[in-house]
Amino acid sequence: MRAEDILRELTLEEKCSLLSGKDFWNTKSLIRFGIKEVMMTDGPHGLRKQAIDSSEVELEESVPATCFPSGAALASTWNKKLIERAAEAIAEECLENDVDMLLGPAVNIKRSPLCGRNFEYYSEDPVISSKIAKHFIKGVQSKGVSACIKHFAANNQEYRRLTTDVIVDERALREIYLKSFEEAIKEGKPDAVMCAYNKINGTYASDNKYLLNDILRQEWGFEGVVISDWGAVNDRVDALIAGLDIEMPSSYGVNDKRVYEAIKKGEVSEEELDKVVLRILNFILKHQEKTDKIKVDKEKHHQLACEVAKEAIVLLKNEDNILPLDMSKKIAVIGEFAKKSRYQGGGSSHVNPTKIENAYDNILKYSNSVKYSDGFIVDSDEINENLLKEAVEVSKEADIVVLFLGLPERYESEGFDRVDMKLPNNQNILVEKILEVNKNVVVVLSIGSPVEMPWAKSVKGILNGYLLGQAGGSAIASILFGESSPSGKLSETFPIELDDNPSYLDFPGSNDIVKYGEGIFVGYRYYDFKNMNVLFPFGHGLSYTKFEYTNLSTNKDTYNEDEDINVVVKIKNTGNIKAKEVIQVYVQCVNSKVIRPIKELKAFEKVELDIGEEKEVLIKLNGNEFSYFNEKLGKFYVEEGEYEILVGSSSRDIRLEKRIKIEKVKEEKQRFHLNSTIQDVIKTEMGKKLLKDLVKEIGKADEDNVQQKMMKEFYLNLPLRGLLYYSDGKYDLEKLEKLIEVLNS
Ligand code: BGC
Repeated sequence: MRAEDILRELTLEEKCSLLSGKDFWNTKSLIRFGIKEVMMTDGPHGLRKQAIDSSEVELEESVPATCFPSGAALASTWNKKLIERAAEAIAEECLENDVDMLLGPAVNIKRSPLCGRNFEYYSEDPVISSKIAKHFIKGVQSKGVSACIKHFAANNQEYRRLTTDVIVDERALREIYLKSFEEAIKEGKPDAVMCAYNKINGTYASDNKYLLNDILRQEWGFEGVVISDWGAVNDRVDALIAGLDIEMPSSYGVNDKRVYEAIKKGEVSEEELDKVVLRILNFILKHQEKTDKIKVDKEKHHQLACEVAKEAIVLLKNEDNILPLDMSKKIAVIGEFAKKSRYQGGGSSHVNPTKIENAYDNILKYSNSVKYSDGFIVDSDEINENLLKEAVEVSKEADIVVLFLGLPERYESEGFDRVDMKLPNNQNILVEKILEVNKNVVVVLSIGSPVEMPWAKSVKGILNGYLLGQAGGSAIASILFGESSPSGKLSETFPIELDDNPSYLDFPGSNDIVKYGEGIFVGYRYYDFKNMNVLFPFGHGLSYTKFEYTNLSTNKDTYNEDEDINVVVKIKNTGNIKAKEVIQVYVQCVNSKVIRPIKELKAFEKVELDIGEEKEVLIKLNGNEFSYFNEKLGKFYVEEGEYEILVGSSSRDIRLEKRIKIEKVKEEKQRFHLNSTIQDVIKTEMGKKLLKDLVKEIGKADEDNVQQKMMKEFYLNLPLRGLLYYSDGKYDLEKLEKLIEVLNS
């Protein structure tokens, strides 16, 4: 049966009943049409289907599923195909468990390193975030499982996340926070979008017509359903009008009744309701066909989780090529994290893994001269003198110390933010003490988000493992011993200290208001603009080999604003291990008329190269991607002029540059009004002609004469209405209106 046919048969009560969940995880069924409920579960880096029919979030009780690296780590692979494969595997586990929709990907921007959910999110940069999400969605949906991108939008902190009002300017909203969803939604076409808990500029995301209707549906052409985050609905009637389809979880009939009454009273029309119900029916109908039960090969998925984990590991520092480890050397493994992996974050994304590998057991597979000591207790911030002493003794006798540090679970999770960017002090002290007896220290980090590293200059190696999922242990050992070369890159900046971060002055806000005062200058956009030193820049990640970048070219030098730009570059592996590299393409607007970041990531490609191998790589850009959001025009706008194409291995390791020009086919017609300034008016030929006497006067001003310079600037900044006073009576209102009419004609 078609959705339209069912809709025609439904009573008003039945229509209203579809507007909310049956329970915590299912939509309602329509028994008289033989329509079953649709089941949705978390996500995003593995399946979390609660084993029991729970009406509460019981975070530990879910069916065993493969725990893939969490969002931050997934994004560090910069490998679109690999992410698609991981997403396909997660979807297969959904099918095996009769789950119709996965609640992921989660793509909120990492505005502050402190956000408790950063481990789940992809990046501080919307371009990589949206591209990764797009491939994740494609992977999930290729198996017939729906994906639900979340949390729309600007849910960038956990502190008072259900009530905080995010005050963000339109340009930052469009260029950063919404951009992280845009490509994923337009090109990935997820079946569902989950609205956020918070308010955006005064209106709850659930009731936000501007977001849910004007932008999401009208501008981006989204055709799926919008569901609420769990308990995010503020006012069900407003939410319905705004374009929210399904309220989750069940509100036990209360809100369905509210809508029913609103329709009866004529506050909302039934046509309005029908639009929503039709969308819900179309979504539900997608999942009515019984698919053949599949049996997942869990070992195969574990191996895939390991492949992803290997590519996610970021080699941050490698002085004296201390890595890969020399197998003939005596190795001290220090830190409880080596034995008790921290491999995922807490909250709704918490997966019950099919198995867990730790790093220590895997290190033993490569070397038989390993000594171990705990060094500290993960569950405590106290310094344990005995453990400290033992670790120092073990380190003294070793050639190399591999030190496992990280953020304990109680430091970061969904639901709360971190209070600072530090590791527990007992860990920092341990590094110091070990460095006193052994200089060959390699730190391996298990973290969901950046930490300060006061010892970064003194240790020789730093390997960032993020939260690598259930196979992280073997992935770490494989990288440590050089079985594979690291190829992960940071998708976020590691600032030196927390107060370097642009959100520092307003995070997490107060009185339920957080102002995004840094505007578009989030992450590297800020550090670059201010020319600041950072601990590790966006895009950074070392390899065991070297790559040579040459022959950057584009197919033309001048393009129209909506034309494809073919960027071609040669890359060669000049070292002696097969490895992968991420070619990053940034764009810089050379002479912008508005304030813009120094450079912005626009595209990237990960390539694998054998020893000595060279490849020519084509990366496509489009002139439209060079735009910024022009608040006056209310849309993205490409400036005519010169742009630098910057190709490199990180945002601060640009290897090649090429300048191109963008020409506009059609210049935006400017509309003039009484408040248009003289300088804007006389930029046009007509304006120059109409105000020729004034132009002449201004032209005569002697720049070295303060008085004349001041008067010149005064006239240039004068709005047209000011000519009433400053034209010796030449203009009255009527004449000004006439002038404006001619300018606009
Ligand atoms: C989280 C969502 C999650 C939902 C269901 C909410 O609290 O914000 O990301 O999908 O719970 O568990």
